[in-house]
Amino acid sequence: YPVESIRNFSIIAHVDHGKSTLADRLLEITGTISKTDRNKQVLDKLQVERERGITVKAQSASLFYNHEGINYLLNLIDTPGHVDFSYEVSRSLSACQGVILVVDANEGIQAQTVANFYLAFEAQLSIIPVINKIDLKNADPERVEKQIEKLFDIPRDDCIRISAKQGTNVEKVLQKVIEKIPPPQCNSADPLKALVFDSTFDHYRGVIANIALFGGEIAKGQKIVSAHTKKRYEVNEVGILTPNEQPTHKLYAGQVGYLIAGMKEVTEAQIGDTLFLYKQPVEPLPGFKSAKPMVFAGMYPIDQTEYNNLKSALERLTLNDSSVTVHRDSSLALGAGWRLGFLGLLHMEVFNQRLEQEYNMSVILTAPTVPYKAVLSSAKLIKWECRRHTLLYYFKCLLTGLHYKQEYGKDEITIINPAQFPDKLSVSEYLEPTVLGTIVTPHEYIGKIITLCQDRRAVQKDMLYIDENRVMLKYLFPLNEIVVDFYDALKSLSSGYASFDYEDAGYQSADLIKMDILVNGNPVEELATVIHKDKAYAAGKLLCERLKETIPRQLFEIAIQAAIGKKIIARETLKAYRKNVVAKCYGGDITRRMKLLKRQAEGKRLMRKIGNVEVPRDAFIRVLKRE
Ligand code: GTP
Repeated sequence: YPVESIRNFSIIAHVDHGKSTLADRLLEITGTISKTDRNKQVLDKLQVERERGITVKAQSASLFYNHEGINYLLNLIDTPGHVDFSYEVSRSLSACQGVILVVDANEGIQAQTVANFYLAFEAQLSIIPVINKIDLKNADPERVEKQIEKLFDIPRDDCIRISAKQGTNVEKVLQKVIEKIPPPQCNSADPLKALVFDSTFDHYRGVIANIALFGGEIAKGQKIVSAHTKKRYEVNEVGILTPNEQPTHKLYAGQVGYLIAGMKEVTEAQIGDTLFLYKQPVEPLPGFKSAKPMVFAGMYPIDQTEYNNLKSALERLTLNDSSVTVHRDSSLALGAGWRLGFLGLLHMEVFNQRLEQEYNMSVILTAPTVPYKAVLSSAKLIKWECRRHTLLYYFKCLLTGLHYKQEYGKDEITIINPAQFPDKLSVSEYLEPTVLGTIVTPHEYIGKIITLCQDRRAVQKDMLYIDENRVMLKYLFPLNEIVVDFYDALKSLSSGYASFDYEDAGYQSADLIKMDILVNGNPVEELATVIHKDKAYAAGKLLCERLKETIPRQLFEIAIQAAIGKKIIARETLKAYRKNVVAKCYGGDITRRMKLLKRQAEGKRLMRKIGNVEVPRDAFIRVLKRE
């Protein structure tokens, strides 16, 4: 395939607008997959994706298509739609020259349509607007075309109306891809320059790197070098994705495919890395901004004997998902573990689910927190604070191998663990991360949404009608106000019609404090949080009430308290209750007695002991999610 007949493109859309369905149709038309129901959503390979019906990880496929007598090679890169995964979207786009922008004919432009459009627009890609689901009874493609014209400045005549489900006009989309998207600008005669834009880990074959060739060619047996690690490898296999790996003799400039080169260490296939031929170095490609975690949580094995298994599962999973950051951490109550950074709460849940499903690991997760900052007040206090941190944590780091990211000597520290929240005495200012949120909603919900945003300490920045009855709102939010349940709240008060997306907007000053939750006087490490002062009382009360509902009654009375420092700000009391599983057996049948005791012991495995109180392990995540 000469470069002129190659097209590299992506499909971008708001969640559920039909990317995966359209991808399936494109694969069918080009004969890449057969037309059976079993092949539904072939690009969504992960179990969690099939279960949740969302795309988490971008997958690629090469399609062969004959148009007006010319054979084309079309490389399709699928992208996730959820806000947490926009990082994957921008990464996929770096291997493309154009995108298909899919908008639902019934729902119209949504928050992520806006966000994804700008990602493509800023990357200067050709954009093919497609209006999907025209077969729906309520479809109003004309209205959506007007929105596209108004918001994106794309002439309404450029939009293609399709039904991905029924296949209507899908062929037109392929033709537009060929006409409108330029071929990649590169040459096979140049030295090899390959961008690693994704990588997966295979238990048998090691690292499989997805690459896009920006120059030269690559074949089995060649020696290549990583610009990032400077390590040398011999290529074992190259090929294209159809969408499963299919080995080929060579990959040429402009192509997208995969490479296996005996990379065994999880850190070797750095995403954004450039590969070149041994002794033929090239200027590395710009690479990617590394993903910026927005939510941090502690992760610990349920049983410390599982530590090593969990460690290797984490290492493998993070190779498949390089946007997760991992630092070793340890806690008195929970033992040795890690502090993980995620792009958002859904990302955290999906990661946790993948650990369970793909690696059979159950873990303890602590309350999610956002990365706060503290500006320390005076040189003396900085020293004191650093010494406190250095001595305490430095030794702990040494012992546990924790990679403690303290910027010594600087007057600003980042706090990703509430346990390390510095004392008010030594701090002149606390800072919290903010995001600029985009909300698209039918106008009848505006009132309720504005109230919700104000309740979350948000400041309105913009309000624009995108047609007669749809509004786009922009708000500056403190990140911690939206991390856990803002999206759910927004969805429920708008009957599911409002959509939401956000982007990073820097730090702002905030009145923060650390709140502890105590069970019979013992701190519950999972629930320690950093919180805005004005919200502490209400949040403390709510957490205590919820925890009271979640902890089963025990043989003694239990005090559940919220505290700021030594000051108790809320309290609930759980009355004593006597549970004796063998009481009914009258001491008689010994086997029955043993069976019951065994069952109770198994139940205990699902419990965590805080002091002498047993708490179900999943209680903490349950109490954090407001219903
Ligand atoms: P994510 O992967 O989560 O981002 O979603 P997606 O954009 O890939 O959407 P997907 O293809 O999974 O489609 C979402 C739903 O819309 C599915 O139930 C599809 O069957 C349905 N759907 C997709 N295209 C059409 C269409 O043209 N007409 C109708 N009626 N339904 C469609």
